[in-house]
Amino acid sequence: MSRKYEDRIQELLNKMTLQEKVGQLRQCGPSLVGAFEVSFEELLDMMFDGRITQEEFARLMGTAKQDFREDDLRDGRIGSYNGIGDAATANRLQKIAVTETRLGIPLLFGYDVIHGFRTVTPIPLAESCAWEPELWERTGRMAAEEATAAGVHMTFAPMVDVSKDARWGRISEGAGEDTLLAGLYGAAKVRGFQGDDLSAADSMAACVKHFAAYGAAEAGRDYNRVDMSMQRLWEEYLPPYKACIEAGARAIMPAFNDINGVPCSVNEWLLKEVLREKWGFDGMTVSDANAIAECVNHGVARDRAEAAALALEAGMDMDMTSEVYIENLEKLVTEGQVKEESLDRAVADILRIKFELGLFDHPYRTDEERQSRAMLKPKYRSLAREAAVKSMVLLKNDAASGEMLLPLDKSKKIAVFGELASSKSEMTGAWAIGAEGNDCVSLTEALEAEGILFTYTEGICNGKVDRGAIEENAANADVLLIAMGEHKEESGEAASRADISIPEVQMKLLEALAAFSKPVVVLLFNGRPLTLSRVHEKATAVLEAWHPGVEAGNALVDILYGKENPSGKLTATFPFASGQCPMYYAHMNTGRPGGKSKFTSKYLDTPLEPVYPFGYGLSYTSYEYRDLKIEKKEKAFLVSVYVKNVGSRAGEEIVQCYVQDKAAKRVRPVKLLKAFDKVRLEAGEEKQVCFTVPFEELGYYDWNMKYVVEDGEFVFYVGKNSSDCLNASVILERSERR
Ligand code: NOJ
Repeated sequence: MSRKYEDRIQELLNKMTLQEKVGQLRQCGPSLVGAFEVSFEELLDMMFDGRITQEEFARLMGTAKQDFREDDLRDGRIGSYNGIGDAATANRLQKIAVTETRLGIPLLFGYDVIHGFRTVTPIPLAESCAWEPELWERTGRMAAEEATAAGVHMTFAPMVDVSKDARWGRISEGAGEDTLLAGLYGAAKVRGFQGDDLSAADSMAACVKHFAAYGAAEAGRDYNRVDMSMQRLWEEYLPPYKACIEAGARAIMPAFNDINGVPCSVNEWLLKEVLREKWGFDGMTVSDANAIAECVNHGVARDRAEAAALALEAGMDMDMTSEVYIENLEKLVTEGQVKEESLDRAVADILRIKFELGLFDHPYRTDEERQSRAMLKPKYRSLAREAAVKSMVLLKNDAASGEMLLPLDKSKKIAVFGELASSKSEMTGAWAIGAEGNDCVSLTEALEAEGILFTYTEGICNGKVDRGAIEENAANADVLLIAMGEHKEESGEAASRADISIPEVQMKLLEALAAFSKPVVVLLFNGRPLTLSRVHEKATAVLEAWHPGVEAGNALVDILYGKENPSGKLTATFPFASGQCPMYYAHMNTGRPGGKSKFTSKYLDTPLEPVYPFGYGLSYTSYEYRDLKIEKKEKAFLVSVYVKNVGSRAGEEIVQCYVQDKAAKRVRPVKLLKAFDKVRLEAGEEKQVCFTVPFEELGYYDWNMKYVVEDGEFVFYVGKNSSDCLNASVILERSERR
């Protein structure tokens, strides 16, 4: 634990009144006042349940004013704000905190910078498909440079919730289904956000979320319970949060869900034993929005006061917007129902971060001038374009007239269909609150800028395929290009889907186009894996573009016309049917692995295999693997393989290394990702790719929760994706394990 600021923290604690202490624990969002008499939440509900129209909602919002509760701020009753993304407002409030409160303690401004602030990069699930920690760090740094210029001190990111269930809308916000990838992704983002020195004006503290296992919500329904074995929690879900803390993340957000019956917001085991005692975390915890109060709904607290007491005693430092701390803690401490020592510990955690951010010496880390110069710089746009290109995954590319359909030749006449092809705002994806849709380049704009002649038809009118409109354009084109998928509201928070197929009307449009017997390219914009068997069948080529961010159209044109060679690979399995969810590559075998005979583990009505497996992705060139070798070093296996680019153009191949513990005392996954590398190969070039896999990383938690590495046979799988690998087996002797 860093002791650097402890004396100053203690000095402040000695001076603080109870009210001031509780105030430090309060994070407010600006409330909206003025034009309506109901709360903002109620107003939102009114719009969603149809009592008012979207237009009425927008009109009311337009006349509303933000209330920052400045009187409370002056009284030392606010320690932090959430959701303020402009330097002028932040500095104005900071000035009140620093010059008008009794102790002059600066405010902390938190904001959701999930995939870029103004320069929006691909959604995290997409960016993870680049399998490139160095890229993740660079885009994190860019986000920090912009966000801090707008007054942000802390981002509620990275989200490292492993999710194996594509029904869960928030799978879009993380790195997919694999534990190793989620940890590497998260650690890289932490480094990018925080930089080398947290007190630098362009560094922001990372708040890792959502601790823990939020991505395992039962049935993929958001906020739902999580009930799992301790072994699974420790092996599959906890490591990414730990990786972020080891990378230096200074804050962590407990999740909305319960784990085995105890909501994370009041889960002392999680927040104290695991986080503080086992992992040595000395940063701050901040609740999810309203989550402490929601412990009453969970049914673990009788009322808001009890929820506040439980959360504080469990180790929750800051209350994000539920107001239960400010309403109750003073009284609870005075009456002896909550220990003042617990309150002091929470205040200390928050003050420590404020000191580390340098806020006591430089409370105003930015100004309007810096903000106006900081956004959407050309170098940021080019990084966003690089990230978008690297995130896209080529799922299918069949031959048309003798050669692969993609990349397209500029001489081909193309006809573009689908509203997503011309949409700018849809390109940002979920959770891009600092974004301006107009900043995005749509596909049709990018095609125009590239000087490509094309026709454009939305193709769907009033919920029906507009056959008249598609007829002429499709008939006159050489290649048909259709944009399909999900709108940005269809993934992200509170956007779970029980059916993850493409909407039927879009399928009808695709079928209508396929009937022209011309090559069809499907471009997919979506925030989660979808069931694509019908798309795969009808299309000649399929490119997964996700929600690619501000440079969407440019990145697409780069790939479609071959300026760039696609290299992304999926970090989440694309199931055949929604009913297979959760579906993931690292599954267990069962005693009756799925097969042809009746009494095996399978469904009667869907194939066993996914449409696209984890790790899958094509390129405009192709690669061959040979000579997989496993050697033993002192404490690790050295795995090597030769990879050759056997096509006619340069490319980057993501080489994946999985392992299976063949026979252990507990059931182990059929394959588990242990290492990967992205290698650039010129046409015809061959390279040897090597991985070191320490014996120590081959273990698991046994029945008694002891981490063990067993001797015996291990099978290594190295290849292009989780189901296309070479394999070789090796014996780890008992004497070699340690
Ligand atoms: C709720 C979300 O779960 C969380 O991810 C986000 O950071 C907070 N709201 C704050 O906006």
